[in-house]
Amino acid sequence: MLRWLLFPVILAFLLCTVLAWRIPSPPAPSAGDCLNLPEQYFNYAHIELPAHLQTPSLQTLDNTPDGNPTTDAGATLGRVLFYDSKLSANQTVACASCHKQALAFTDDATLSTGFEGGFTGRNSMSLAMARFYANGHFFWDERAATLEEQTLMPIQDPVEMGMALDELEARLANTDYYPALFEAAFGTPEITSDRMAMAMAQFVRSIVSYRSKYDLARQEAPEAAPDAPLPGLTPEENLGKAVFFSPSRGNCSACHGTEGFVAFGAFNNGLDLVYADPGKAGITFSQQDIGLFKVPSLRNVTLTAPYMHDGRFTTLEEVVDHYDTGLAAHPNLSQFLREGSATGPPRQLNLTTAEKTGLIAFLHSLTDTAFTSDERWSDPFCNGASAAVEPVKQDGWRVFPNPASSMVNVHIDALPGQAFALMLRNAEGRLLYYTYFEGRSYQLKRQGWPAGLYFLEMSSRGKRWVKQIVWQ
Ligand code: HEC
Ligand code: HEC
Repeated sequence: MLRWLLFPVILAFLLCTVLAWRIPSPPAPSAGDCLNLPEQYFNYAHIELPAHLQTPSLQTLDNTPDGNPTTDAGATLGRVLFYDSKLSANQTVACASCHKQALAFTDDATLSTGFEGGFTGRNSMSLAMARFYANGHFFWDERAATLEEQTLMPIQDPVEMGMALDELEARLANTDYYPALFEAAFGTPEITSDRMAMAMAQFVRSIVSYRSKYDLARQEAPEAAPDAPLPGLTPEENLGKAVFFSPSRGNCSACHGTEGFVAFGAFNNGLDLVYADPGKAGITFSQQDIGLFKVPSLRNVTLTAPYMHDGRFTTLEEVVDHYDTGLAAHPNLSQFLREGSATGPPRQLNLTTAEKTGLIAFLHSLTDTAFTSDERWSDPFCNGASAAVEPVKQDGWRVFPNPASSMVNVHIDALPGQAFALMLRNAEGRLLYYTYFEGRSYQLKRQGWPAGLYFLEMSSRGKRWVKQIVWQ
């Protein structure tokens, strides 16, 4: 009798053990920093892409190296690292501070703000479709040879995060969540910068956009030729699509090609090089590379303003005008943007108003809100450790007296004790003072700043709050 009673118990026990072993799950969150990871891993390794994104023309661009295939546990670790401001020296900036999911993993500032308030040299880049770039080089000037190499560069960059890798290894080993996450991803809890690089590269490669209006329309008509109209798009969008793909009109797809809307290398796209950024030539020192920049994917382009490596254009209208009649002559101007031959003058498209608005409408159809709100790529920290686009928030900290004459007190009410970066900017936005502090209050002494309106900007864990102050 007892045997019969025990039997189902043992069976249930065995079943649970087997199931627990079969379904891997992320390590439980720790007590200190609160992590909100799913019970079962999100799927990063085998994201089911629609047929038009599984064609050889796109899949051959995949830069995943044999030595670092994307796994669910690896990308999960990468996600935590990506959103963790511990990666910056003073713990105020995360990767996500400059690569915001709601903005297709780019930044709306022309130049992004680093951990000490300094500005980056160029406009931040969208990370959607980073995986589909065949030469595997990263940054506007392609200076990183692989994504694994790229991911460690912002950490050590003196403007962006300013952190030494050996210090970071020690800092992460000191948390109660990283050793378990590293163990889940790599088999042992050892924390090395190589492993960080691999995990972050896995996470970045997993970031794919495939659910825009265009994708839905494309799925309904899988056989349609690239410049043929799609029933799921409006006539206006289809007109723009024809301009985009037609070699005799926009020819945009010559560079922003394939279903990823990406290229196979860097090009000179006729920007007036007023700011003298040499682009790829700054790395190769080759004349032929002057003014060549990596071609960004145009998926979600409505979210990635401002545009180009220096953020010179604020709207898509300006971008279209550039390609229409604004191309600057340059020996390296791509042949795709020339009249007639490879040595012809910059081409003048003279698009009609309908073609221009159509082109912009088509670019809008590439916006994928399922992508920008997908939890897989979102901030895993419960208290929002990073950089969801945070509107200026006035509560939670006080500044007094205001107006002030010799000093101003900053006091934090509601926010938990952590490190804060504090910046003072003048009305034109120029940085005048920078410091960082831990705890709840700071006294900022006036240093000869003339009377007038100023901005006090405080940031922590990738979030930023701004208040106006007046020096009397
Ligand atoms: C302070 C802002 C800032 C931070 C922090 C930052 N980035 Fe960036 N990121 C940029 C800017 C700006 C660029 C373009 C720089 C250039 O090309 O010179 C860029 C470029 C990139 C690219 C190249 C994309 C491409 O298609 O070539 C990747 C990938 C990337 N960042 C990932 C990361 C990761 C991972 C982290 C965290 C470890 C990070 N970034 C932290 C601002 C930032
Ligand atoms: C010769 C290759 C080439 C062609 C053809 C081309 N582009 Fe580009 N495009 C580029 C390059 C290179 C950049 C980045 C340049 C930079 O930032 O310095 C770029 C950038 C852009 C950007 C800004 C993206 C961002 O996130 O900053 C948009 C939008 C764009 N192109 C749209 C178009 C449209 C629309 C057409 C067709 C009318 C077109 N492009 C044709 C090479 C090309």
